[in-house]
Amino acid sequence: MEKIVSLCKRRGYIFQSSEIYGGINGFWDYGPLGAELKRNVKELWWRTMVLERDDVAGLDATIIMHPLIWKASGHVDTFSDAMVDCKTCKGRFRADQVSEISCPQKPGKTVKECAGEKTEPRPFNLMFKSHYGPVESDDNVCYLRPETAQAIFTQFKNVLETSRHKVPFGIAQIGKAFRNEITPRNFTFRSREFEQMELEYFIRPDEAVEAICGRVAGAQEIGSRELGTENSDWGWEAWHKYWVEQRIAFYEKIGLPRNTLVEYWQKPEELAHYARATVDILYKFPFSKRDQRGELTGEELEGISARSDFDLSQHERFSGKSMGVFDDELKAAWEKLPKEKQDELRGRYFEQRKRYLARTGVPEEEAGKKAADDANALGKGQYTPHVIEPSAGVDRLILALICNAYCEDEAPDEKGKMEARIVLKLHPRVAPIKAAIFPLLKNKRELTAKARTVRDMLRPHMSVFYDEAGAIGRRYRRQDEIGSPFCVTIDFETLGEKGDAFKDTVTLRDRDTMKQERMKISELLPFILSKIR
Ligand code: GAP
Repeated sequence: MEKIVSLCKRRGYIFQSSEIYGGINGFWDYGPLGAELKRNVKELWWRTMVLERDDVAGLDATIIMHPLIWKASGHVDTFSDAMVDCKTCKGRFRADQVSEISCPQKPGKTVKECAGEKTEPRPFNLMFKSHYGPVESDDNVCYLRPETAQAIFTQFKNVLETSRHKVPFGIAQIGKAFRNEITPRNFTFRSREFEQMELEYFIRPDEAVEAICGRVAGAQEIGSRELGTENSDWGWEAWHKYWVEQRIAFYEKIGLPRNTLVEYWQKPEELAHYARATVDILYKFPFSKRDQRGELTGEELEGISARSDFDLSQHERFSGKSMGVFDDELKAAWEKLPKEKQDELRGRYFEQRKRYLARTGVPEEEAGKKAADDANALGKGQYTPHVIEPSAGVDRLILALICNAYCEDEAPDEKGKMEARIVLKLHPRVAPIKAAIFPLLKNKRELTAKARTVRDMLRPHMSVFYDEAGAIGRRYRRQDEIGSPFCVTIDFETLGEKGDAFKDTVTLRDRDTMKQERMKISELLPFILSKIR
């Protein structure tokens, strides 16, 4: 990891925030190349999750929202980690990490091993608290959002009505999130300010699917079925599996090979109380723990959770505003069902709603009455949608991409002697600079003018970098180290000095193979575009 952290700083990918003041723990800034890499990753996520689909709409909500939102979501009461204090060094540590973190005073020992006296673990709420308006009182407390998801739930009705989508459909958002982590660590992996890319995909409850289609397709049945064809019989398990596969395909598309990823299905005892199933997609970071066979076990990049109708139901209870939808297909189908089937589906829906209400502390009698109302409403085409949530961290993904891309190999120097080379093998889709343009010599006006023409031709379509300074080998080496997939060199053959056959051709060098091929200038743009799109 040290080599990666050093490269990130040296080449302008990631800097410590507030560095000239000694830094601030858990906060990181993205330099010129890091900002570009991050923009590419977010752009690709948005393209894949929103623009290339008919069933997802976007949202860009505020970071500070009504404080009751965090009461409804459970964050005020339960979004905490267990923390222990060391009375000797005055350090505070996450209770589940004391056997991993080294003691600040005796770095050779872990916090658990050192002799310092520790307190019992106690909960520490991770939300950053502030006040809105000019008075600091309990009446105007607010929080920096610890996740982007809650804004999606609270704006669900507005988006539904204005976007004219029907369930199943999703709402996507990218934005900052803040968590006052007790022990931020592993470079940007666990930060106090970070970005998330979250989708809430709203689906029919299984009882509604069964009423409409006569059956509920399970996860094993989805196979390679495309969306838009026959998927109206998908239940929550099928949708959950579908999103796990979509997300893994996304990671592969941007350059994380399948064998660096782990699909981890949370065990029943690990699930949040509202979750029916959660799959964590892990990346095998160099700092991940190892299993008994010495294999990296991986750390979480993204969680994909089937969250039932918990979130919308909570906001309905706390705001008093209905979060239900009317489904005309369900109403029409229900009327045609035999009475026994209606009773069976209503009964199942009743049980599920009652379980939710009881879990959230509604007294039993009231929960039974409310659940009965909800079950009757189902027969009239009304329900609260369930949700599948793929929730990814931008910063963790950036770190995974850099770790995955970092390579050391050898390349010939100017005299053909092999020398060590550092190369970032970023996928061309995410690489901050797609093509570097070099005139062979700086002091030959025809070469520099032609090189600038090539730069100007490519620039409207991709990020390019023009460099005329220094030996060509050193210019290649610099681009290798920052991960630029292509270098284009304009030489005397380009100018036609070796005959018409080579006039208006350039050399295109591939970063990974270091192979150079001659290509017509007119073929450059379509060739590079085919690699970066
Ligand atoms: N809405 C669900 C949610 O927020 P989460 O597992 O707490 O779920 C989702 O967070 C993703 O956000 C994680 O998989 C991770 O990539 C990222 N993330 C969470 N905490 C983070 C932190 N302290 N630093 C960087 N990324 C973080």
